[in-house]
Amino acid sequence: MYAALRSIGSYVPKNILTNHDLEKMVDTTDEWIVKRTGIKERRIADTDEVTSDLGYKAALQAIERSGIKTSDIDMVVCATLSPDYLTMPSTAAMISQKLGIKNVMAFDISAACTGFVYLMSLAKAFIESGTKKNILIIGAEKISSIIDYEDRSTCILFGDGAGAAVICATEDKNEAIVDVLASADGNFGELLITPGCGSVNPIREDNLDQRLQYMKMAGNEVFKVAVKTLTKDVVDILKKNSIEAHDIDMFIPHQANYRIIEAVRSKLDFPLEKCAMTVAKYGNTSSASIPMAMNDLYEEGKIKHGDLMLLDAFGGGFTWGSALVRFAGKNITN
Ligand code: ACO
Repeated sequence: MYAALRSIGSYVPKNILTNHDLEKMVDTTDEWIVKRTGIKERRIADTDEVTSDLGYKAALQAIERSGIKTSDIDMVVCATLSPDYLTMPSTAAMISQKLGIKNVMAFDISAACTGFVYLMSLAKAFIESGTKKNILIIGAEKISSIIDYEDRSTCILFGDGAGAAVICATEDKNEAIVDVLASADGNFGELLITPGCGSVNPIREDNLDQRLQYMKMAGNEVFKVAVKTLTKDVVDILKKNSIEAHDIDMFIPHQANYRIIEAVRSKLDFPLEKCAMTVAKYGNTSSASIPMAMNDLYEEGKIKHGDLMLLDAFGGGFTWGSALVRFAGKNITN
């Protein structure tokens, strides 16, 4: 049995936060943000719109496009760093409840921006082992809930959104997810961290006063490791599978910073038109960035049945990973 990516879906909140809006909130400029990151705007969920609402809407679209019934889904996994609740219930359980999915395993994973690549690996393993047949995977983030809008080094980078996919069992090797490589190194944990509200710095007034509940990032140090790691990821997976860069139909890297994407793309010689670039309109949506970018390309008719996609991600942990995935869904019809 092989695992096939049958569909993709996404959801973006309607509220737009522009660089000019941020100029009124912190000491920054549109020019600085565009030059250093390529980001022009990002979406921010409503106060009463939570992570599982975003994930639910993306999942609904992915299920509709997959051709399978919601009742046939036998596992739901959500990657998120901004869950509905700190410990429980899981965001995956909340999404399942909203979809009316009952009596199947539902859980979250924590792998920051590499979350969707980790989900590919999990879904592939569960299906190839014969344990599950139709798995719903979701990357969903209301990152605005863990961002310090007084910290100009992080608040300009992130946005909210969700992406989802349905991965199904198939006997056809030509439809299969080819390979996933994923890894982590906790030695870099402190460079990109939400220090508060866990067992290290529990929810206490003194910790909250220090704003430890918000994400912190040593941006420049993260940047250097990100470029190196994302490039190595691609080289490793292509080499392992004896695939050349020109065999890839679409390169879909994590959307954190156009300079990082551009450095990796040019080093590996992927043509511009074969490289996803959605960071300008959504900012960094962490675990949702790859499926959101994939969905936009799909809706533009740039990803078709049988196309070979190369996913590449890097994030907090540090975590990183790459995946070679065939699109095994139906072509978009407008
Ligand atoms: N506006 C204006 N100036 C700013 C801003 C801002 N918003 N933020 C920082 N600066 C200043 C700094 O204070 C610094 O000033 P100084 O030279 O006087 O000290 C100067 O700009 C340069 O700061 P750097 O941090 O060196 O800027 P850099 O070019 O590295 O860009 C950025 C920062 C955009 C954060 C970049 O480092 C980056 O993209 N890092 C990687 C992000 C990433 O990939 N994260 C992983 C995934 S995220 C996840 O897993 C959740």
